Parts: sequence; structure tokens; C-alpha cells
Amino acid sequence: MRSDECGIRNEGQPQLRTPHSELNTQMLSQPFRPHSLGSDLHASESDVESILLSEEQIRQRVAELGAQISRDYEGREPVFVSVLVGAVMFTADLLRSVTIPCSLDFMAISSYGKESRSSGVVRVMKDLDESVESKHVIIVEDIIDTGLTLNYLLDNIRNRGVASVKVAALLDKPSRRLTDVSVDYVGFEVPDEFVIGYGLDFAQRYRNFPYVGVLRPEVYGGK
Ligand code: IMP
Repeated sequence: MRSDECGIRNEGQPQLRTPHSELNTQMLSQPFRPHSLGSDLHASESDVESILLSEEQIRQRVAELGAQISRDYEGREPVFVSVLVGAVMFTADLLRSVTIPCSLDFMAISSYGKESRSSGVVRVMKDLDESVESKHVIIVEDIIDTGLTLNYLLDNIRNRGVASVKVAALLDKPSRRLTDVSVDYVGFEVPDEFVIGYGLDFAQRYRNFPYVGVLRPEVYGGK
């Protein structure tokens, strides 16, 4: 059952903001993965156009998700597979809200080919430490954008003979989906903007910001 079907999708989501500028639209029509950019970037609060999700909103919603997962997995012992690096904050807070026995493992992946596009063809940079065969796996992601990365991950995990696999994502940008993937536990739906903070980066910066904010397009050359 999808999270929205069982009523856990957040009703009090932040207002969707006005669509971004034309230039911005052009940039964001492709997944943006600027890992190689911005070595001289000095991340500052003034780079944030607006705060989309406050620390308190995130705290409350993540606690709800943890409680929901604990109810849904009662009697089972799920393995959380956290996708490095972006999902680290979300994973740490989510697991503290989970009240049933569970374990945690990490995967790190990186895209093949052009770094600014999500091809969905990814390379496993760090694999799981333990086998997940016959286990109930919950993939923990920071944000689902085109869904191509998640699609790959789901195939990868399913091929290991798991008992089940579901997905928990802090953020979802459904308007940008290029593939039909189902996200079982969604923290917040967000508009088609480039967001940073609470683990999410631009050029490896801003992960330490405690809220989720919209990055000013000037910072990544969108205006
Ligand atoms: P997808 O394959 O397009 O779904 O890519 C998802 C990945 O792209 C996420 O795990 C993030 O690493 C990155 N990403 C997509 N949108 C954003 C954003 O707005 N801010 C930061 N990272 C993003």
C-alpha cells in the first residue's frame, strides 16, 4: 500500500511556489547533479531564496514516518538501506523514531556519464556490508526526482532475493518523474525547485543546513 493510500502523505505540505523562471526551467528540465562544480563556492545562508521546510516541520514529519513504519513492520525486522550521502540526516532521525527491531546498512552510488544528467545507470561505489537475502528492505533516499536512480536501486535490491522492498524518501518531486516508481513513505512533496539542506547538497555544500531551502538560481547559474 502506498503511503498516500494509507493517509500518511503530509496534508500540511508547504505551499507550492510559483514555477521557476524560464532559464531555470531549462536547467531543471534535466536532473541537476553538479558534483564537479563549485570548488570555490562558499555556502552561506544568503544563498537560500526561501526556507521550504523548517527544522520543526521536518522533525514532526520524520517522527510520523518512523511511527508509521514501526506499525507497518510490527513483527518483522526491516533492514534500512540508506543511500549515501544525501540521506544521512534523514536516516539518522528516521531511525531514532523507529521503535521495532531493525538494522541499518549503507550504499553509495554515483552516476555514469555526464554528471549533470541522471541517466539512471549508476555505479555502486560502496555496497552493503551484509546480505539482504530474505530480508525486508526499506530503501532510504533524500529526494526522488526523475526516479531513474531509484528505479536502478530497486532492481539492484530485488535481484538479491529479498523478502520485500519499500522506499522511504524525505522529499518527492513528482512533477519531474521520468519513470513509474512507487514511493511508499514520503516526507514532503516539493515543487520543481533546486533544494538544499538537511543532507541535500549543491556541489557538496549546504548539507549541514538544518532546514530544507530553495537555492537561489544565481548560485548555480540559473539566472
Ligand atoms: P533521480 O535519479 O533524478 O531521481 O535523482 C535523485 C538524486 O538527484 C537525489 O538522490 C539527489 O542526489 C539528486 N537531486 C535531485 N533533485 C535535487 C535537489 O533539488 N537538490 C539536491 N539534490 C537533488
